[in-house]
Amino acid sequence: RHFAPKARPLTGLKLMLTAGPTREALDPVRYISNHSSGKMGFALATAARALGAEVTLVSGPVTLATPTGVRRVNVESAQDMHDAVMAGIGEQHIFIACAAVADYAPKVVASHKIKKTQADNMVVELTKNPDIVASVASLQHKPFTVGFAAETRDVEKYALDKLKRKNLDMIAANDVSGSDRGFNSDQNALSVFWPGGQHHLPLAGKAELAEQLLTLIAKRYHDLH
Ligand code: CTP
Ligand code: CA
Repeated sequence: RHFAPKARPLTGLKLMLTAGPTREALDPVRYISNHSSGKMGFALATAARALGAEVTLVSGPVTLATPTGVRRVNVESAQDMHDAVMAGIGEQHIFIACAAVADYAPKVVASHKIKKTQADNMVVELTKNPDIVASVASLQHKPFTVGFAAETRDVEKYALDKLKRKNLDMIAANDVSGSDRGFNSDQNALSVFWPGGQHHLPLAGKAELAEQLLTLIAKRYHDLH
């Protein structure tokens, strides 16, 4: 969509976002991942560009086309995503963490394909990945930092806990308990929280929702700057 200059509240601002899942290798042919489609993050990148921002999209493996006018950096693992984000975060005004980052990765990545053995059970040891959005929010010159929270219960409680614990400026909470929204769906609803305020964005297409969320982000950003 095309917006008149007045309706482009992100003009002159650099915005980075993460999107999609991450892949955590077990061996050269296997990985641990999740069902994130990347649709919400890509919709946000598209909308941010339309609202005037200079957009960098750090994306895990997804099957979506790069939005026009958006700089895309492809990554696989959470560690790669962390490194790509930290390399470019210094010049960003706004950071949105939309990726479904794997919380843990296999502690050792086998250099050859793991072979099946006689044993009926197999134990894989996992180790915690870096928390990307928390790393960004702990920077001395942190950008306006927005997180997402996908929850299946107690949405508000967990979202407020993450807002505080990760030192975020805003969090968009996502109830993924129903199949009509979130992860692989084309629709979503978001409850947005920031220190001292909240706003509900009802079930809508991801493109429309992305535009509404970014309008809210732009408003909060300009209130603080
Ligand atoms: N996130 C991140 N790096 C991680 C894990 C999460 O940047 N290693 C970001 C996500 O992109 C999201 C926010 O943190 O914006 C919340 O992710 P979520 O998985 O809901 O939070 P966790 O702290 O991992 O808690 P849990 O999975 O236990 O609910
Ligand atoms: Ca998590």
